[in-house]
Amino acid sequence: IINMTDLDLQNKRVLIREDLNVPVSDGVVTSDARLRASLPTIQLALKKGAAVMVMSHLGRPTEGEFNSEYSMQPVVDYLVKALDCSVRLVSDYLDGVDVNVGEVVVFENVRFNVGEGKNDDTLAKKMAALCDVYVMDAFGTAHRAQASTHGVGVYAPVACAGPLLAQELDALGKALDNPARPMVAIVGGSKVSTKLTVLESLSTKVDQLVVGGGIANTFIAAAGYKVGKSLYEADLVEEAKRLVANARSRGGDIPVPTDVVVASEFSPTAAATLKSVSDVTDSDMIFDIGPDSAEALAKIIEQAGTIVWNGPVGVFEFDQFGEGTKRIAEAIANSKAFSIAGGGDTLAAVDKYNIADKVSYISTGGGAFLEFLEGKELPAVAMLEKRGA
Ligand code: 3PG
Repeated sequence: IINMTDLDLQNKRVLIREDLNVPVSDGVVTSDARLRASLPTIQLALKKGAAVMVMSHLGRPTEGEFNSEYSMQPVVDYLVKALDCSVRLVSDYLDGVDVNVGEVVVFENVRFNVGEGKNDDTLAKKMAALCDVYVMDAFGTAHRAQASTHGVGVYAPVACAGPLLAQELDALGKALDNPARPMVAIVGGSKVSTKLTVLESLSTKVDQLVVGGGIANTFIAAAGYKVGKSLYEADLVEEAKRLVANARSRGGDIPVPTDVVVASEFSPTAAATLKSVSDVTDSDMIFDIGPDSAEALAKIIEQAGTIVWNGPVGVFEFDQFGEGTKRIAEAIANSKAFSIAGGGDTLAAVDKYNIADKVSYISTGGGAFLEFLEGKELPAVAMLEKRGA
């Protein structure tokens, strides 16, 4: 792969694909983690003397129409404050863009273009014709083969990886390829179905796989306990049993919590009750792991050499169901292991429990982070490898 850091960008027209897909509320960016992570790349291109064009998607709008709800304007407002140069939003860019050295032009949402999602060749060629150098820096969208992440790189005069993408691949590769042992993965979140392949793939790599959240409920059911009205997937109970049996045949295990925090309704004011997992009744909903389980997990985490964290172990948005996730966050913060965390909910937990500077590497990827953990090839990375060969 060619790296942007190695290229001479003096007086070059540089088109950077970032993942600036951030939450926006009332026209204001509400979480700027992805923007902060992208700034060094844009600043480096400016410092290298480039005329800079930045593009990204935001949300999932219908292709072929402008929709103000998905406009890049809030992102541009943020960049205007963060960058020390002229920053402009352009809506019509496919037939040419005026941009000067030292200036940043941000394209309107690439998903307003017909053909973006299907990686349309004509669209990709138009994008490629705008630049001398295409920089793929959007790790968070590297699992999508779309016109702005893949096709454009096939046709651009030069296609390279930006520093953020390179850093993500390096950090995540380091954690997975040659991990310091023991390696522990904590996979939480709501559904086994969305993470089955991640669980499968990690279970063969790690020394200890820990499940939490709604995912754990399916494993609790697989272990023969009642889960009451909890979120779980009945049709994946057999899969869960198989994963546990495989782990045991390798001398490991996928432990289920011994104690849980339950309530009778899903609400911010629901009363939390602590129970042994064997005492869950038909009317209970499991919303967190209990303190004994959290303590057991914290011990495993504190002794780890490598930690991979994706997904909270409880409904931590509500404080009374956040203690398990909090304890895990603290254990990761106290551990000397090389730790990586990724995924939207996970980053919200990292923020809530204030451990951002104690995690070795925080990925900007959600779906891309999961696909990397699954061991899948990311199409945008495959394209860069081909171009660099
Ligand atoms: C993400 O938030 O995971 C990325 O920006 C990709 O977005 P998408 O799932 O809409 O392609």
